[in-house]
Amino acid sequence: MSNGKLTRRGFFQGMAGVGVAIAAPTYAKAPAGRSEGKPSKAEKAGGRPAYAEAAAGRPFFISTWKHGKPANEKAAEVLTSGGSLLDAVEKGINTAELDPEVMSVGVGARPNEEGILQLDAVIMDGPTHRAGAVAALEQIATPISVARRVMEKTYHTLLAGDGALRFALAEGFEPQQLLTPKALELWMKWKADPKRKQFRRGAPDEKPIIRPDEKQQRPGAHGDDHDTITMAALDAAGNLVAGGSTSGLSWKLSGRVGDVPLLGCGIFVDNTVGAAGATGDGDEMAKFCSSFAIVERMRAGADPQSACEAVLRWMLEVHPENEKIEACVYAANKKGEFGAASIRPGDFTYAVWWPGMSELRTAKSVL
Ligand code: GLY
Repeated sequence: MSNGKLTRRGFFQGMAGVGVAIAAPTYAKAPAGRSEGKPSKAEKAGGRPAYAEAAAGRPFFISTWKHGKPANEKAAEVLTSGGSLLDAVEKGINTAELDPEVMSVGVGARPNEEGILQLDAVIMDGPTHRAGAVAALEQIATPISVARRVMEKTYHTLLAGDGALRFALAEGFEPQQLLTPKALELWMKWKADPKRKQFRRGAPDEKPIIRPDEKQQRPGAHGDDHDTITMAALDAAGNLVAGGSTSGLSWKLSGRVGDVPLLGCGIFVDNTVGAAGATGDGDEMAKFCSSFAIVERMRAGADPQSACEAVLRWMLEVHPENEKIEACVYAANKKGEFGAASIRPGDFTYAVWWPGMSELRTAKSVL
């Protein structure tokens, strides 16, 4: 269980002493108009239930993309070794930040248009309803940890740019070069291309909505090897914590801040209701406060799956051209019911963890 790498075997050994139940997943009560009970044959064939699934044990972690799986496993390890839920989310997200192969979070991520890495992160604690965030932070490998210090050591919620860096340095974080040779090479290639995609309106090759070249931005066929990490965690007492960390969009303008550190956009928690998180085109998703919108739908009675889908449909109603963007969300409520959705089919791989379960899923799309 060292280095955050929790094997299935190691996991079962680790859990043996803590008396957790290992059981098949259960399914939440279906919303009106849908069948209750287990998923239908068609739903099974699609690999997903039509409505919210419930984690079969606690704690429960849900994170974005394939790097969410080691992050969940690390978070579970931290919690079951006596750490707090905040520790679990912070340390879980640190795994993605410190992995240079994850090219959209922390060390090794793709830089902005000036070749500089500017990172965004956020953490929110359900029981105290407090939060901390950093935006456009340079030189610090673990922005989620700085975000936590903002929450715990200041009366502020969000520090940006140079002020965030100076705060981090005063807190003892070590500045370092975060750009790896691989990321630098990609940036130089982008910079040398006279037809490179840019975020300024009116650029010669501007393609509205689909922003920089998707191949550059998302090398994987379905994008499951990239993008923001956001995580929501639920403990045995029903408390919730969420966090997120990202380098934002590759080749973005200097100073651009995405949805992740904006509370209610990248993540949101209401400890009486649930938590939600997002990943994708943060410029567009921020216009819909997607995580807050999901939590509010759950407060009004929606199950997590329906709430996720409703918000993505709202994004499509307001901006039909959003059918072309990557927009992915997930949610969990206090009962451990959870759901996830993307606008486009096959866009969103997410990771779930509960005792006896650690795996990747593909979210349902609304198109
Ligand atoms: N969702 C990450 C960003 O757009 O900044």
